[in-house]
Amino acid sequence: MRRHLACVVLAAGQGTRMKSARPKVLHEVAGVPMLGHVLSAAAAAGAERTVVVIAPHMSEVAEFVRSQDPAIRVAVQGTTRGTADAVAAARPDLEGISGPVLVLYGDTPLIRPATLMRMRNLLDEGVAVVVLGFRAADPTGYGRLVLEADGMVSAIREEADANDQERSITLCNAGIMGIRSDVLDSLLAGIGNKNAKGEYYLTDAVAAAGAAGLRTALVECDEEEVLGVNDRAQLARAEAAMQRRLRTEALAGGVTMIAPETVYLSADTKFGCDVTIEPHVVFGPGVAVGSGAVIKAFSHIAGARIGDRASIGPFARIRPQTTIGEAARVGNFVEVKQAAIADGAKVNHLSYIGDASVGAGANIGAGTITCNYDGFAKHRTEIGAGAFIGSNSALVAPVTIGDGAYVGSGSVITRDVAADALALTRPPAVEKPGWAKRLREARGRRDEPRPKVDSG
Ligand code: UD1
Ligand code: MG
Repeated sequence: MRRHLACVVLAAGQGTRMKSARPKVLHEVAGVPMLGHVLSAAAAAGAERTVVVIAPHMSEVAEFVRSQDPAIRVAVQGTTRGTADAVAAARPDLEGISGPVLVLYGDTPLIRPATLMRMRNLLDEGVAVVVLGFRAADPTGYGRLVLEADGMVSAIREEADANDQERSITLCNAGIMGIRSDVLDSLLAGIGNKNAKGEYYLTDAVAAAGAAGLRTALVECDEEEVLGVNDRAQLARAEAAMQRRLRTEALAGGVTMIAPETVYLSADTKFGCDVTIEPHVVFGPGVAVGSGAVIKAFSHIAGARIGDRASIGPFARIRPQTTIGEAARVGNFVEVKQAAIADGAKVNHLSYIGDASVGAGANIGAGTITCNYDGFAKHRTEIGAGAFIGSNSALVAPVTIGDGAYVGSGSVITRDVAADALALTRPPAVEKPGWAKRLREARGRRDEPRPKVDSG
């Protein structure tokens, strides 16, 4: 029988190089805090017990963890005395665990579940300690993996403690490590802090395992997958790598992107089949796009459900808590917020639709504004099915426009409009014959033929 997998995620480091008021692991990659990516990978690898290790002042991180999954435990490491000490801080929360334990870093957001599964399989087969390694283009700063002739990892040497020969090794420690829970305590107990940094290194568990006659093993992955984020430049590299990964997945899933490198996705962006995305589109968190929908250039969408065959943009902004119905159209320079645009409705030009519902097949003319805010509170606008709102109308919420009603262009609607009625607020036009000519004469300007405009 396969034993339950436990994951310990280390996140107690200060992250000072981020130069941020926010804890490092809460900085986002593809719209999700780095720690969220790591927790998702752990869950996808089948973790049944997860413990996140934080420092005492990191209540924000604890809150985020709870919001992700209340079953995930949070352990506090009093002082950051090294990665082995951090795992020891999580030990009480591993009570009753008898299977493999994987130690992950909260600042390594690109780790793949499949890699974690390869590591756990080796532990299930009896390996005591499994190390995740990679060939580094530049190994500076990483722990180096010292291998035996038979490929067993005999030690991990931190840069500061390595001799010249060890420093020439390019096979590096990714940091992620797996340990069988039945040997965890004895290995941790044997780890001291006699090293350059005076820290308790989890990496010393490898040499300790060898000394105890236990098997160690190496799993290799790409450098990109274990990119660790310590500063904003690395955060940007992680973002770029994550975007490449998400675009590749979207393309593989049947999405057409004309210029994928210009499309920014969130980790949770979902697509139906045959979606087309034009260049320069940004998806914030919480977007699902239905089959056959087209997202035109320069649109920004967050927290929205886009119906099948809908058309969005170019230059549309769709804000959270919005649903766009099947075959609905939201055109250029339209902002939609907390609104439900029903099937087949059209909002094609230059409008703001906020805190509103637009019924099926309704037509919202150019420049229509829902005036949802009175300086104190937000109010709703309800527009019925098949209604027609003339261009440049202001709908002052709270207000309801009935099914099939018309609103005349340029109206300011402050009261409800009954179904099938016409409402318009429009001062009567006044025309004064010859007025303009008299004005010019009074100002002493002769009437001349109008100047020709050069159309070139
Ligand atoms: C570590 C590895 C190194 C590896 C590198 C990969 C050790 C001793 N060294 O070095 O071999 O090549 O990662 O990036 O493990 N943390 C705590 N509590 C502590 C100390 C650290 O929670 O007391 C956490 C940090 O928040 C971080 C992780 O553990 O997520 C790694 O710590 P860090 O100080 O970054 O280790 P490195 O020096 O990078
Ligand atoms: Mg580090």
